[in-house]
Amino acid sequence: MKNWDQFLAPYKQAVSELKVKLKGMRGQYELDASHSPIEFVTGRVKPMASILDKASQKGISVKNLEKEMQDIAGLRIMCQFVDDIHTVVNLLRIRNDFEIVEERDYISHEKTSGYRSYHVVIRYPVQTIHGEKKILAEIQIRTLAMNFWATIEHSLNYKYKGAFPSDIRMRLQRAAEAAFHLDEEMSLIRGEIQEAQAFFTRKKEATQEEKK
Ligand code: GTP
Ligand code: MG
Repeated sequence: MKNWDQFLAPYKQAVSELKVKLKGMRGQYELDASHSPIEFVTGRVKPMASILDKASQKGISVKNLEKEMQDIAGLRIMCQFVDDIHTVVNLLRIRNDFEIVEERDYISHEKTSGYRSYHVVIRYPVQTIHGEKKILAEIQIRTLAMNFWATIEHSLNYKYKGAFPSDIRMRLQRAAEAAFHLDEEMSLIRGEIQEAQAFFTRKKEATQEEKK
């Protein structure tokens, strides 16, 4: 059998590095005193038991894991507003430290479960003592509301092992719509705030001009 510690080592390295890098983006916005499109970042390496479960479910053989399992290294970026997600995706696209291999837009095309998120799969080079090793990592970008829903749904999924009673499935779908509605409402308020701030800045500039 494989040496799991050795297999997982580059994934662990990648997750720690990417957490630093993505959190660093948030820090840079704070320095600029401008709204950060990133609220917080999390990351994890898929535990061995989950890797094996998923591999057997999907018929992936252990020797093909590297190529066929994209989320052994997983990062999550939470945003306040839906528009921030697109800002973050653009920030990822212009980076030179990894290559984007796939994007999956479950925001415009939500899953039947009600799941919404934007997924970006990257090929990330890890520097090892044996040279460079490129691994796949999945970055999920979502709003706080989408994350709330996905977290709850995920724990229920665990309880029901994917086979939801139909009333629960329907309630979850309705909750997903409610979460999306919340995001839409927040986006509207965001517009109001920004308009008010722009107005306030103009007014302040005008009074300063009058005093000269
Ligand atoms: P996986 O076999 O789950 O990787 O599916 P996939 O290869 O089609 O990738 P996809 O982009 O659909 O989903 C990958 C990941 O997104 C999952 O591991 C979950 O973290 C998340 N995800 C996808 N669908 C759902 C869902 O319905 N509910 C929740 N809670 N999470 C989901
Ligand atoms: Mg996947």
